[in-house]
Amino acid sequence: MTDVVIPDDLAAAMRGARRVVALTGAGVSAESGVPTFRDAQTGLWARYDPAQLATPEAFRADPELVWRWYLWRRDLTRTAEPNPGHVALARLQDLVDELVLVTQNVDGLHARAGSRGVLELHGNIMRTVCFRCGIEDGRELNLDGGVPRCGACDGMLRPDVVWFGEPLPMDALTRAAEAARVADLFLSIGTSSLVYPAAGLPYEALTAGVPVVEINPAPTALSARATWALRGPSGSVLPRLVAVLASEPT
Ligand code: OAD
Repeated sequence: MTDVVIPDDLAAAMRGARRVVALTGAGVSAESGVPTFRDAQTGLWARYDPAQLATPEAFRADPELVWRWYLWRRDLTRTAEPNPGHVALARLQDLVDELVLVTQNVDGLHARAGSRGVLELHGNIMRTVCFRCGIEDGRELNLDGGVPRCGACDGMLRPDVVWFGEPLPMDALTRAAEAARVADLFLSIGTSSLVYPAAGLPYEALTAGVPVVEINPAPTALSARATWALRGPSGSVLPRLVAVLASEPT
């Protein structure tokens, strides 16, 4: 457990909030056993080079290598279970008028915890689309016959995630930015706040006068600007924060 205390003024802001936006990053799934990207010892980018695995150029150069890495991550995702942080966010949706849940995660754990209408800014690792025509392919996939091909146009299939240098889904990003500007409270959870445009969302909120709560065991690029910074793992801090709304002991 964490000894993080919810300050009284934050508890009051939570109770008065009708519209809440929550932006999540890899840290929210860390307690489910899904590795983050930038944590020094355990992060994926400490062990793997994003330029070789997470760009369209890397995929063109060696699609099998890229697929092997994503199939390994798919297996990790499949066996992971939502943790109390995911569950608390699903619960929060029932306690406020509107919760817009925006995630950079591709693991689908928010939906599996019961969250509805999640805006997935970086795609979903379990989906497969065509690199050429973009059509979704729902078949079970393996690399036995080489790189899998699109049934419609014979282009190479790829995981439906956003790679470095690629645009984010415009509709989801626009809806997230609009929600950030009109929210009563913005939560930034388990993200290093380094990767744009997602990292820009809390600043959209702050500029519009919306208070921002950061939940993260470590300081981030956002910390100095956050209205409140709660230092602890989201699997412990989020249930406490949500308990404030449910008038339960924290
Ligand atoms: P990062 O790996 O950059 O940051 C993870 C954050 O989670 C760090 O600030 C950790 O301190 C924090 N953290 C670790 N354990 C936590 C816990 N139990 N509870 C709460 N926080 C915890 O991951 P993101 O910010 O999500 O993009 O990275 C953003 C994007 O960069 C990813 O979506 C991915 C990556 O490259 C693409 O692949 C396009």
